[in-house]
Amino acid sequence: NQEKLSSARFSEATDAFVEEFTASIQFDKRMYRQDIQGSIAHATMLCKVGLLTEQEREDIIQGLGQVQADIESGKMEWSIKQEDIHMNIEARLTDLIGITGKKLHTGRSRNDQVATDIRLYIRDEIDAILPEMTRLQHGILSLAEKEADTIMPGFTHLQTAQPVTFGHHMMAWFEMVKRDVERLEDCRKRVNTMPLGSAALAGTTYPIDREMTAELLGFERISQNSLDGVSDRDFAIEFTAFAATFLMHLSRFSEELVLWSSAQFNFIDLPDRFCTGSSIMPQKKNPDVPELVRGKTGRVYGHLISLLTLMKSQPLAYNKDNQEDKEPLFDTVDTVRGSLRAFADMVPAIIVNRDVTYKAAKRGFSTATDLADYLVNKGLPFRDAHEVVGLAVAHGLKTGQDLSEMSLETLQGFHGSITDDVFEVLTLEGSVSARSHLGGTAPEQVKAAIARAKSEL
Ligand code: ARG
Repeated sequence: NQEKLSSARFSEATDAFVEEFTASIQFDKRMYRQDIQGSIAHATMLCKVGLLTEQEREDIIQGLGQVQADIESGKMEWSIKQEDIHMNIEARLTDLIGITGKKLHTGRSRNDQVATDIRLYIRDEIDAILPEMTRLQHGILSLAEKEADTIMPGFTHLQTAQPVTFGHHMMAWFEMVKRDVERLEDCRKRVNTMPLGSAALAGTTYPIDREMTAELLGFERISQNSLDGVSDRDFAIEFTAFAATFLMHLSRFSEELVLWSSAQFNFIDLPDRFCTGSSIMPQKKNPDVPELVRGKTGRVYGHLISLLTLMKSQPLAYNKDNQEDKEPLFDTVDTVRGSLRAFADMVPAIIVNRDVTYKAAKRGFSTATDLADYLVNKGLPFRDAHEVVGLAVAHGLKTGQDLSEMSLETLQGFHGSITDDVFEVLTLEGSVSARSHLGGTAPEQVKAAIARAKSEL
């Protein structure tokens, strides 16, 4: 391998520890494909504007192809002396094709190169994540469809509030994921901006054609200021903010799955393949997947704060601090992809214990609001109706009866306007199907929401 590229200016070799301390090759080699892709486009542009001959361009592209093949077959020898992915690839290229390799860096700096690589990398990841998000959405929809009529208790303060349909509950998760998809798509627009041409910070004296390079790399925009081009990491922060929000949603979802799969709730069964046992307690089946996703959310929050803090004090333009953007970013990508895959696999396989959720909805006077609404329809002001139903609930608590189990006579004792038709609203089915408007929990509304969602996907 070559000596370090900037060696002429130095009168002594870099301290061995400093060399290791400042190197990033251990982790930034993850971006080798994007680095090579960027270099191929750059060389193509250099040739078009007359800075490389056709032969030189061909040698460079062919050499870069060889480097990529070496990397992918595990033959590449990474060197800490070459510091990072950019210099490792360039050094290897020069080993392979000789002096022409040294021309590749014309009109370019590692500063705009690395900014380009990260953008290409995130763009690739977004394009892999989006279809997985769609798969998760389909998984949620399939469960919602199966359970559109299933009745369960809806909660506020984790206390039984009103009956809802399980499908409706699932469609709430669908809405959250849908917003996350929108956030990610929006983030992609700004990621897809090309900083190449900013060079070190001030631009370059060569007659480069930035439009051409951008087109070759599929960038929709070109950065408009070279200082900003090399120092902007907003796009990585935005991606991580998307990830933090998405993981926050998956973590809430996880929390419900953990609760619901407990013996005390027993609303759902998670298929065995998503659970593990205990090394000591033979009866255990633990909901490891949702627990882990809930736990992993913390590290993504941490990465978001890391990146924000990394940027907050940097003067323009590039600073070595920026090298610290990669590990948080890479781990964010891995965490999103792992958690997303687990959820997309698991959600459609959830088994709902319909009898249990139904019985649970019957407990806790979940139709009390329906009785109050009934009295309002009979002419009572809502506050008075609220009071009457409060008395009925107190009675039910004493006698151990649900409202629907009380006799007509008993109910009439709380208010004379109550008649036989009250039992229609006191049933769980009556309660949910009465909430039939856009966004309501009635099965027919849930089915309509599913149909809308399907036509959008
Ligand atoms: N490894 C560096 C990074 O990750 C690449 C850019 C280095 N540029 C420089 N002038 N030292 O940011």
